[in-house]
Amino acid sequence: MAEIKTVTVNTPTVKSDIYCGEGAFNKYAADLVSGKDIFVVTDSNVYSLYSNLIKDTFGTPPVYIVPAGEKSKNERQLLNILKAMVAAGLRRNSVVIALGGGVIGDMAGLAASLYMRGVQIIQIPTTLLSQVDSSVGGKTAIDFCGVKNIVGTFYQPRYVIADPLFLNTLPAREIRCGLGEIIKTGCLNGDIFDKLTANANNLKDVTFLKEIIYDCICHKAYVVTEDERETTGLRKTLNLGHTAGHAFELYYKKKSHGEFVLIGMYYELYIAVKSGICTQQYADSIIKLIKKVITVPAYGDGQKACMLSKYDKKNERAAEVSMVVPREHGKTAELKLPLDEYAALINECANSLKG
Ligand code: NAD
Ligand code: GLY
Repeated sequence: MAEIKTVTVNTPTVKSDIYCGEGAFNKYAADLVSGKDIFVVTDSNVYSLYSNLIKDTFGTPPVYIVPAGEKSKNERQLLNILKAMVAAGLRRNSVVIALGGGVIGDMAGLAASLYMRGVQIIQIPTTLLSQVDSSVGGKTAIDFCGVKNIVGTFYQPRYVIADPLFLNTLPAREIRCGLGEIIKTGCLNGDIFDKLTANANNLKDVTFLKEIIYDCICHKAYVVTEDERETTGLRKTLNLGHTAGHAFELYYKKKSHGEFVLIGMYYELYIAVKSGICTQQYADSIIKLIKKVITVPAYGDGQKACMLSKYDKKNERAAEVSMVVPREHGKTAELKLPLDEYAALINECANSLKG
């Protein structure tokens, strides 16, 4: 059996241990909550696949099942989770387990941070995207008033168990979504980029994914340890591709977060080249990876859609959009543009895709 590795996020106030690798769930899940009252939050798809595993591992704890999908990441579901926590009689020393993808992790994390001003949460990510990114680092959120992740907290999980066991049931599309955040991480970390480039023809291969999950977790743990609250600029880099990506996600809705990250990266690369921040040659090496995973759409309404970037949390001024773009191998730059200029460039990029 492959080795289980431990990665730690260490901030001045928090220590968060991440157990990563095949067998991690069996080895740690039951032990970490032994003798504690637990409350499981999961989604309808995950529950239908793993209800027996929940029973075999945790007995019969209270389980709150959220309808699967981003549409559920809202205030109504958040309040329902909190009501179920009260009904289950959870106390300060109880433990919330988020078993699912990023939607469940973000929402259960927010509920855990609010209930009694904070009860322990363990993240057990079941999608590739949540293993490489969202389960680590303590950002919690719901979408609210039509804006993505606008209400949330920083609340570190005490433990994360990232076991590739869960990838066995993951649809191909969800592997693509995870690759969105993985390629993003490659733009921030030259070693990861080199591995992606060397394995460009087998990005979806499970053996490769198992290795890259660990690499991405290490990168994220390093960033969060250095800049937990996104104050120094380092953590902002994790939002590469997300400025346009989130705006497209809000406007077009039909695809998933990871797919929009890939599309957002492509559009923002166009802007980075046009602005002289990155060479066409380097951009092409990233585009080659993006195109291995997704066909980038020429968004007819791109200009209108990206007006929604005005809600981006990185923006410091009204009518100015801030985005993190690739600069060179493993390095990024922050680019700030007036909203109308940004929208015109998005439109130009869409037109170039049509041509
Ligand atoms: P998701 O949670 O909606 O999961 C995707 C789909 O996969 C769902 O239909 C789910 O039911 C299904 N699924 C989950 N595990 C499965 C399994 N093992 N087998 C079969 N099906 C399974 O989406 P996601 O892509 O995991 O996460 C996206 C969310 O994460 C977005 O809301 C995004 O904003 C958030 N996010 C947060 C952070 C953060 O730092 N907190 C970072 C990146 C993304
Ligand atoms: N996914 C962005 C962050 O964790 O900061």
